[in-house]
Amino acid sequence: MKHLISMRDISKKDILEILEEAKKMENLINEKKTSDILKGRILANLFFEPSTRTRLSFETAMKRLGGEVINMIDKGSSIEKGESLIDTIRVVSGYSDIIVIRHPNEGAARLASEYSSVPIINAGDGSNQHPTQTLLDLYTIIREVGKIDNIKIAFLGDLKYGRTVHSLVYALSLFKNVKMIFISPKELKLPEEIKEDLKNKNIEFEEKENLDFDDIDVLYVTRIQKERFADMNEYERVKGTYMIKKEHVEGKDFIIMHPLPRVNEIDYEVDNLKNAKYFKQSFYGVPVRMAILKLLLEGR
Ligand code: NCD
Repeated sequence: MKHLISMRDISKKDILEILEEAKKMENLINEKKTSDILKGRILANLFFEPSTRTRLSFETAMKRLGGEVINMIDKGSSIEKGESLIDTIRVVSGYSDIIVIRHPNEGAARLASEYSSVPIINAGDGSNQHPTQTLLDLYTIIREVGKIDNIKIAFLGDLKYGRTVHSLVYALSLFKNVKMIFISPKELKLPEEIKEDLKNKNIEFEEKENLDFDDIDVLYVTRIQKERFADMNEYERVKGTYMIKKEHVEGKDFIIMHPLPRVNEIDYEVDNLKNAKYFKQSFYGVPVRMAILKLLLEGR
């Protein structure tokens, strides 16, 4: 594995290897130990879209393994002078050992990987993919449900533009007997090509518009992706369609995940219920990204 661009590029075996390594990293963090396996290595963060968790957890992960981080910020870089992504990548890959990139255009990370002399990690390309989020989502499911095979998961919210959903649905299709329910307004349904892929693999799924989820193991809630709408009137029509409240959750066993940021999809009163795992999920981003950095950089 040279780059991490899409979940489609990695096998189930690679996924399980990363999840196993992440558990070791989580133990290291919990035991307050440090490591210097990436001492002397430099990670470059190139974020062309807002980020809190992804950027900071990559930075934390690199530092916990003894490495250093450089950041390109949107304002004040030569992008403002009209420098192309390709030129930026050529330059930054000469400064660093690994690049994490988030970009509004689908395919931007793949393009970057064609011009980079160092590994590229896709931290989100438009509505397309967000593979490191998926790996931490899978890790959360393993840690909090205990298994990935044989689970039933409901996805809720913006299934059209949500890249975390697109990546995770694909990854789950590699596991055994995973049942999926897709709940969204009709304007924000899962893209046809992803559904086609599931059908070709004989994976069971249902589509719904109402908050109807029985005997699920995971409720995966997402934000309506305002920045992806071409028509703001359409956004106004669908925003606030769903809000998960205490009454939807109390007495149930499923866990609630959310890649965050939350806008208004989950009521704050849900946060204290045992089902709420979204902050734990964001913590798991650190050990999982430590594992990814180790696997991409060690031995290079
Ligand atoms: C997500 C993203 O950027 O796709 N955020 C994240 O990385 N945790 C989800 C979102 O922005 O809604």
